[in-house]
Amino acid sequence: MDIKNANNNLPSSPHRAGQAVPVRELHAGYRQEILNHLLQLNDDDRRLRFGTQTPDEVIARYVERLDFNKDVIFGVFDLNLKLIGMAHLAYLPEHKGQARAAEFGVSVLPEGRSQGLGTALLERSAVHSRNTRIETLYVHCLANNKAMMHLAQKAGMTVEYAYGDADACLKLPPANPGTIVEEAANEQWADMDYALKENLKRSNQAWWWFFGRPDLAR
Ligand SMILES: CC(C)(COP(=O)(O)OP(=O)(O)OC[C@H]1O[C@@H](n2cnc3c(N)ncnc32)[C@H](O)[C@@H]1OP(=O)(O)O)[C@@H](O)C(=O)NCCC(=O)NCCS
Repeated sequence: MDIKNANNNLPSSPHRAGQAVPVRELHAGYRQEILNHLLQLNDDDRRLRFGTQTPDEVIARYVERLDFNKDVIFGVFDLNLKLIGMAHLAYLPEHKGQARAAEFGVSVLPEGRSQGLGTALLERSAVHSRNTRIETLYVHCLANNKAMMHLAQKAGMTVEYAYGDADACLKLPPANPGTIVEEAANEQWADMDYALKENLKRSNQAWWWFFGRPDLAR
């Protein structure tokens, strides 16, 4: 079977094949990938993600200031290890007598949309929030962000609209052994998935170095 035919047998959208989406927790070593991901969002997507026009310099400063010791960044990688989806779970300052809360922000590159990646990033963030004693999860977004509103409502969030903005909020039950195991299993699966993609990428590169890159357009 040649490479072209082998590729024809792969599902066009691997995440639609019914498996769980491998969502990985990212450390500071992924700052460059995070920056590359966000810079690929067009003006409209940046406005939906950050609530305002967001030039490249502002994105660069945002990424530079990400505090991986305080907040959590989750990522989903495609077959070429490109960061195709990411979520920032930002822990809000604690106030005495108030529930501990976190804010969720997410982006998926256009080629990865409508395959469940946004949902998987939200689910993983909600489970991680429960496991770290967060009681309320917020998403702040523009009221015309239909995809995010749909995602939030599907996850059971209540949505309040005011002055063109929408605040979605999810009350989270406490962690239990099930949520701890769920998160550990997802992280392990994501590590394994990443290692497989890394090996595949390396062997493809070695193959192409010997024989040249296949011309898939033929
Ligand atoms: C919002 C966003 C993260 C969704 O990512 P995604 O990977 O496509 O999400 P999913 O595939 O899990 O789910 C999207 C759902 O929205 C639905 N949807 C997409 N566009 C829609 C629209 N215009 N109106 C209503 N629903 C819409 C999809 O059909 C899908 O629903 P389903 O799961 O019931 O079939 C992505 O569109 C994005 O990055 N947008 C730009 C940044 C942004 O808006 N971030 C959110 C603010 S923090």
